[in-house]
Amino acid sequence: MKLLLLCSLLMIGALADDYVVNTRRFPKDFKFGTASAAYQIEGGWDADGKGENVWDTYTHLYPEKSNYQNGDVACDSYNKWQEDVDLLVGLGVNTYRFSIAWSRVLPTGFVNSSNPAGINYYKKLIAALKANNIEPLVTMYHWDLPTNLENLGGFINPEIQEWFVDYARFLFKTFGDDVKNWITFNEPKQACEFGYGAGVLAPYISSPGIKDYQCSHNLIIAHGKAYRMWEREFKEKQGGRVTMVIDSNWFGPASNSTEDIEAAERNMLFTYGWYGHPVNFGDYPEVMKERIAHRSALEGFNTSRLPSFTEEEKQIIKGTVDFMCVNIYTSSLVNAIPEPKIVPLSPTRDLDIGVNVFQPEDWEPTVTSWFKVVPWGARELIKWISNTYNHPEIVVTENGYHDNGTVIHDLETRGRYHKLYLSNMLDAIYEDGVNLTGYMAWALTDDFEWQYGYNIQLGLYQVNFTDPARPRVAKDSASYYRQVVTTRCLVDNDQCTD
Ligand SMILES: *[C@@H]1O[C@H](CO)[C@@H](O)[C@H](O)[C@H]1NC(C)=O
Ligand SMILES: *[C@@H]1O[C@H](CO)[C@@H](O)[C@H](O)[C@H]1NC(C)=O
Ligand SMILES: *[C@@H]1O[C@H](CO)[C@@H](O)[C@H](O)[C@H]1NC(C)=O
Ligand SMILES: *[C@@H]1O[C@H](CO)[C@@H](O)[C@H](O)[C@H]1NC(C)=O
Ligand SMILES: *[C@@H]1O[C@H](CO)[C@@H](O)[C@H](O)[C@H]1NC(C)=O
Ligand SMILES: *[C@@H]1O[C@H](CO)[C@@H](O)[C@H](O)[C@H]1NC(C)=O
Repeated sequence: MKLLLLCSLLMIGALADDYVVNTRRFPKDFKFGTASAAYQIEGGWDADGKGENVWDTYTHLYPEKSNYQNGDVACDSYNKWQEDVDLLVGLGVNTYRFSIAWSRVLPTGFVNSSNPAGINYYKKLIAALKANNIEPLVTMYHWDLPTNLENLGGFINPEIQEWFVDYARFLFKTFGDDVKNWITFNEPKQACEFGYGAGVLAPYISSPGIKDYQCSHNLIIAHGKAYRMWEREFKEKQGGRVTMVIDSNWFGPASNSTEDIEAAERNMLFTYGWYGHPVNFGDYPEVMKERIAHRSALEGFNTSRLPSFTEEEKQIIKGTVDFMCVNIYTSSLVNAIPEPKIVPLSPTRDLDIGVNVFQPEDWEPTVTSWFKVVPWGARELIKWISNTYNHPEIVVTENGYHDNGTVIHDLETRGRYHKLYLSNMLDAIYEDGVNLTGYMAWALTDDFEWQYGYNIQLGLYQVNFTDPARPRVAKDSASYYRQVVTTRCLVDNDQCTD
């Protein structure tokens, strides 16, 4: 049975007027949690022997690129981690996704520089989580490359593959008895496209259509080699699982024309498939290889701008995710267009895709131009991943709502966003047969949101970033999420069925 969402006033834009919130309960062992990333919450940027990472270095060098703000202090979770754990306990979640700051545990990035105070910080956090039956889901790399490694070429230098394997080995050795769910990389598309292509995320390198592909290529091989090392050296004695987190919009066809359907699928393959195909099948999607090689030749490049995997590398990367992850925020529509003109030696990834991507004017807006509220798109995206990759287990590792951070009474905005997205995920589980096993709300607390600084927020708890004590205050969405987590039901408990 389904319940009509009462407030029809809210049913605008992308929401069909007759959408009803799913009243099935989430499965008993469903993993509910929240997510965070080291640089966005920890602060303590130079505390106790921590080395600099690219976000420390580049926000200091180019403060204008992140609203003259940085993560030097952020939520001060380096000191207030116990309070964060208390909030998680209060929410009743069984999982917490967080990341380890590479340069806090290995200040130069190399394993010969290990920092006991940094290691101890994560040991304490992990122990406190486990003492409260909260399973750690740990990201090894959430965009904060040690600056020393960036100075050696960062993700453009193929040696990053071995630097990362060494780092991963160090993490399994140090934390692997307690951590059983590992994510190698978070959102490689953002890190590479915006860090080395468009130049809007640290290290702010602008080389669209070239270094974004090279960064991704090294990152995918680094992931694969780390996975194989784990299989050889740790899997048997530690158990556990290893995966990668990939982000994507849902890119749906703007019409039912064959051309638009093909264009939308191509956009999905160039986005989620850029990483999803290599880690499942051992290579990039054919359409990426063909289009980039073709356009590269016409543009005057001697070789394809998309590097290719050797046969050995294909074997290394194929089948290296034990479950699949996706970060979901919004959706877009896609039209086919005539082949974009060739501009000699001036490529971009968008030209390589060669489609028109847009969001209809009447879709419900948020404070951010690219972010419309499109709950049904979450179901489509999860279904696409399930169908494309042979029905894997899937975890939504991020999902959350943008506002300007001042709103405590956010039940009708953030609370409703989580409700409608979760409802579409229930539809995917029970109506589409998708094996979705977990959901991590982004984020536990407000935080440093990269290029937006502190001006965009997604937390269930507000943080006052001008108060040195960084107090946390529950938003209304936190109590709603607590209710969902404890009842596994999106509406009133007595209206849900198993
Ligand atoms: C640490 O390891 C790096 C990389 O192998 C090496 O270049 C560096 O010299 C080493 N440093 C020390 C102090 O041994
Ligand atoms: C495509 O066709 C389906 C089935 O007839 C329909 O439900 C859907 O709205 C159509 N999509 C578009 C974008 O026109
Ligand atoms: C292609 O190769 C030629 C000859 O080796 C070289 O001069 C030229 O710079 C190369 N062009 C590009 C775009 O790499
Ligand atoms: C979902 O995946 C898990 C882990 O692989 C598996 O144990 C479970 O049987 C799957 N559930 C369904 C419904 O396929
Ligand atoms: C933040 O958003 C709220 C709700 O939309 C609005 O009332 C408020 O004026 C905004 N504040 C700022 C500083 O933009
Ligand atoms: C944040 O903290 C500052 C400094 O303590 C205080 O002046 C301000 O009123 C606080 N803002 C909110 C919204 O509580």
